[in-house]
Amino acid sequence: MSELKRIPQHVAIIMDGNGRWAELRGLERCEGHAAGVEPVRASLRAAARHGVKFLTLYAFSTENWGRPSAEVDALMELFCQSVVNEAPELIRQGVRVRMIGERSRFSEKVQKALAEIEQRTAEGKTITLILALNYSSRSEITRAVRRIAEKVAAGEIAPDQIQEATVAENLDTAPYPDPDLIIRTSGEQRLSNFLLWQASYAELWFPGVLWPDFNEEEFDKAIDEYAHRDRRFGLVKGK
Ligand code: FPP
Repeated sequence: MSELKRIPQHVAIIMDGNGRWAELRGLERCEGHAAGVEPVRASLRAAARHGVKFLTLYAFSTENWGRPSAEVDALMELFCQSVVNEAPELIRQGVRVRMIGERSRFSEKVQKALAEIEQRTAEGKTITLILALNYSSRSEITRAVRRIAEKVAAGEIAPDQIQEATVAENLDTAPYPDPDLIIRTSGEQRLSNFLLWQASYAELWFPGVLWPDFNEEEFDKAIDEYAHRDRRFGLVKGK
């Protein structure tokens, strides 16, 4: 009897290597980011084709504000342009766009573009694309702790009622399942402040390819690799 292939419900990607890709070609780093848009399209297509229901992309970390201002500005422009240009295709494909991270630090223009794409794609049923923007795990967890402390101070919950679920419910990712598979391109093998709470049982995959060279075939390889992993969640197999 043939067994159905195990497909991750939620894939998260650290899109790394744009700068190196550009430098290798004697281009500006910003051109590497621009070349990083096509792999986003390819990943969405491949994820939807496999039946993945959630795709999270680490697009801008809280640390990325420390990059040269020209690069930060170019990235902001790229996000705005992309969400506007891609909207019709995203709607056609049934993609629902959501965001995690603190959007209040973005300019009004960026906030407006993000709010618009969320609103225009709200009915998407095929796949949810979650953009991690001005996101870092430590900042997300700190904000969650603050919210829980406020509820305790207001007498809404007692300290001994705080469970793991209480923490999870106060994270930006509360509406979504934990990632089953986290991919980081460019050969770097670390999580860099990305989904640290949610990654507890995630499978990790580190292809050597730089993000602008990532494509549907690379996504398929990650899905194949995942299908062969033995996920035990701290239990003993078969017991
Ligand atoms: C990391 O590569 C990449 C980023 C900080 C930006 C990611 C943005 C995109 C791929 C643009 C398209 C995204 C959307 C959602 C439209 P790096 O610059 O750190 O690479 P390096 O390590 O080689 O310097």
